Amino acid sequence: MKVIRSVSKMQRLSRDLTAKGKKIGLVPTMGYLHEGHLSLIRRAKKAADVVIVTIFVNPTQFGPGEDLAKYPRDEKGDIAKIKATGGDYVFSPRAKDVYPEDFCTYVTTEELTKTLEGVSRPTHFRGVTTIVAKLFNITRPDVAVFGMKDYQQAVVLKRMTRDLGYPVKIIIAPTVREPDGLAMSSRNRYFDDRARWEAVCLYYALRSAKEMVKAGQTSVVRINKEMVAVIMATCPTARIDYIAFTDFKTLKPVRRIVRGTVCSLAVEVHGVRLIDNMKLA
Ligand code: PAJ
Repeated sequence: MKVIRSVSKMQRLSRDLTAKGKKIGLVPTMGYLHEGHLSLIRRAKKAADVVIVTIFVNPTQFGPGEDLAKYPRDEKGDIAKIKATGGDYVFSPRAKDVYPEDFCTYVTTEELTKTLEGVSRPTHFRGVTTIVAKLFNITRPDVAVFGMKDYQQAVVLKRMTRDLGYPVKIIIAPTVREPDGLAMSSRNRYFDDRARWEAVCLYYALRSAKEMVKAGQTSVVRINKEMVAVIMATCPTARIDYIAFTDFKTLKPVRRIVRGTVCSLAVEVHGVRLIDNMKLA
């Protein structure tokens, strides 16, 4: 496995791989890898001949006051994990190579980025679409794998790929969870024992929503009320940012649970903002 830091070297390499007829799979990450990330590498390996994993803590997707400076990093550990999981190349560029000082060109997906995460993070998705477009240009993948954990991000990137005509197949892989149900996230390391235990409230709420739907409940209002109760019972200090019921593809809110409805939520648990989601029907 090789680690590449130079943008132009990565570009040359991906061009050569494509010329040799190799199908390239891309797994973009911000590092500090956990089992969720590794599951994407395994998924990419199934769909491609060569897997490129990128590690880049992308400054443009962090808003002012967000955790860019303290975002956890462990490049050595990440490289070892990628190697053990069967990744072929790690692309870990320097920020100044990716964003020269006078950088001023952005990619914006308009419709899907004003709801859910976009409300409290108005510039976030512009940063995500810009970096992923750049990574597509640098690595020229045939397939790229993203996690359902960041459901809105995956839908936005799928739309961007189609709208800009990138010849890239987008695969959305399922969320990997801890044994108690908490979705794996690099941010989980911010918790002490008690907060970590209470962080499972998002999953408990989603699970109860799914159970209600299975039992025939279709009212968004009733499910929402029950989810709030479950969250507050598990983590009394939780601050719920939103609980939303939306169509999988359009992200438009639904009034009743129908086929393709996804419930997503953002909750601040002991000062850490967590997101999670589940397809309800
Ligand atoms: P990051 O948060 O590092 O996540 C990288 C990829 O791993 C994303 O596609 C994310 O959805 C997926 N992922 C995270 N936790 C997961 C879990 N528990 N189960 C399955 N997949 C999971 O998302 C980003 O980085 C960035 O926004 C990025 C796309 C790299 C652009 O900078």
